[in-house]
Amino acid sequence: MFQATTYSGKKVDDYTLVLKQLQALSEDEKDEIAILSNASALLNQFLSEVNWVGFYIWKEDQLVLGPFQGLPACIRIPYGKGVCGTAVKERKTQRVADVMEFPGHIACDSASQSEIVIPIIINDNIYGVLDIDSPVTNRFDEVDQTYLEKFVNALEDLLS
Ligand code: SME
Repeated sequence: MFQATTYSGKKVDDYTLVLKQLQALSEDEKDEIAILSNASALLNQFLSEVNWVGFYIWKEDQLVLGPFQGLPACIRIPYGKGVCGTAVKERKTQRVADVMEFPGHIACDSASQSEIVIPIIINDNIYGVLDIDSPVTNRFDEVDQTYLEKFVNALEDLLS
């Protein structure tokens, strides 16, 4: 059983614990939907000031909604569109301090003010993206980016 965690408030320590929790939750598991579902739930209970945490999976040349926590969201995102499609196109994390300033941002939840999207790349192929939205402008800093990229790297290993 997953025990509700009291995190210390020290960001690096807490992210390090979350990475361990991801490994523990996914041990000996190969089912991709199960791993991604728990990964979204794990991040959602850990991160403060977020309103959407989840995955889009690359299928037949577009992103399709995967396991997530938050309000119902748009189901399909084309290559190069929105923050998610841009992360796929550039194969690079998109850390957007103010979504209103991002040309072509796709508003799935009107509460979202800032967003981070990290591409998931397995064997040099796009697998999908991790997308996290916040109702607060400039919610994600460099430390968040570094550790969320480590989180995605761990997922890439678990899913490959
Ligand atoms: N804002 C994203 C769309 C997905 S939702 O945030 C869940 C984008 O611009 O790609």
